[in-house]
Amino acid sequence: MKIGVIGTGYVGLVTAVGLADLGHQVIGTDMVKEKVDEASRGIAHIYEPGLEEILQKNLNQGNLSFTYKLDQAIRESEVLFVCVNTPQREDGSTDMCYVEGVSQQIAENLNGYKLVVEKSTVPIQTSMWIKRTITLNKKNSMDFDVASNPEFLREGSAVSDFLHPDRIIIGVETERAKNTLIEIYKKFEELLLITNIDTAELIKHASNSFLAMKISFINLLSDLCEKTDADVEKVAQGMGLDPRIGAQFLKAGLGYGGSCFPKDIRALTHIGEDMGLNFHLLKEVDRINSERIQKFVEKIKKSLWILKGKKIGVLGLSFKPQTDDIRNAPSIEVIKELLKEGAQLRVYDPQAMENMKEVFPENSPHIIYTKDSYEAAEGVNALIFITEWEEFAELDLKKIRQKMVNPIIVDGRNIFEPQQIRETGFEYYCMGRKSP
Ligand code: UDX
Repeated sequence: MKIGVIGTGYVGLVTAVGLADLGHQVIGTDMVKEKVDEASRGIAHIYEPGLEEILQKNLNQGNLSFTYKLDQAIRESEVLFVCVNTPQREDGSTDMCYVEGVSQQIAENLNGYKLVVEKSTVPIQTSMWIKRTITLNKKNSMDFDVASNPEFLREGSAVSDFLHPDRIIIGVETERAKNTLIEIYKKFEELLLITNIDTAELIKHASNSFLAMKISFINLLSDLCEKTDADVEKVAQGMGLDPRIGAQFLKAGLGYGGSCFPKDIRALTHIGEDMGLNFHLLKEVDRINSERIQKFVEKIKKSLWILKGKKIGVLGLSFKPQTDDIRNAPSIEVIKELLKEGAQLRVYDPQAMENMKEVFPENSPHIIYTKDSYEAAEGVNALIFITEWEEFAELDLKKIRQKMVNPIIVDGRNIFEPQQIRETGFEYYCMGRKSP
């Protein structure tokens, strides 16, 4: 099947590569020429385990190509996956201008039947607007369908999520669209859930909001644990053993970040309120999450009293491990707060340093980018952990301690076992478990 993938961001690039790997003929397109040039040369502009290998494999096999000419991609394809970004506006609603722009282009280049598949996360009823835009702008009587096939891939495991999905949601309104998508996902036939389009669109927002709610729930309990003798890790374990609850997404800490959860929860709140419904539940989820930063900074202050002039090592900048993505990363807000208080920072992340240098430039007098965790610990009064990269759990803590001026660790992700780390001589602060 000839498939065009519009947009080669996180979702688009992985989708293009994944669909090619399923055996389809795929043409990826993006308006940013550098992204297209890099992808054509087998270079992924994002860090994602396994992505470059499978990109190169499919380029070499000849079933994957890239172009910055959107009209060409539209004309050469029968199915178009729309993977352009859907940014958040000030009021929490979703900015749909890129989706509209693409819909207009599809209308103008409608040279035969096309199935237009929404892959980006979009508000419920977007398909109706895509349909209307194409209908209003098309210059001939060619037929088309719109469908929804939301993407559930997680950054850091995106390729594996695409190739080993737990479900594939297909929202359609015609038999033709349904059969085309069944054909595309033939390999995963038993994982398909076929619904109408509104339902499919809502499943995506609902899933992300529910997961965010689980995280805020455990973070709320984490605060209660700190006021008592309860241990949030054990509370989560105990809750997670109930299969109705499940163990995942019950990790207390600095809260959720990234390009999806913060945006999706606000978008769904906005959609609900727009329709006259009370969506306060989701507003609370957002509020609890936003407060995590301040609570963490309070812990750092509790350990160091005055931050002005203190040296602090900051480990972990990406919004979660296994990615270089810093969008809505808690690290940004934490760093801003610490700089505001006059602290001197030595920071390190295995993948996200280059991205972070665009937010906090390298030549700033108060922030030094270091080559590893040990260098970040050199001469500091405290070491703080913001992202739970695996390599942090494997650090030689004795070596770390020797490098630090004061043996203080403030851990925003509960990476270490409190008793063990305290036995190494550290004063250890963590989330939802007994701290000094
Ligand atoms: C999420 C969804 O999981 C995915 O299905 C969707 O397609 C896009 O949004 P992603 O944003 O890549 O994926 O990351 P995810 O692994 O879901 O983590 C989101 C955030 O929640 C991260 O900041 C993570 O640190 C945080 N988190 C996750 C917790 O704080 N606690 C947890 O228990 C789990």
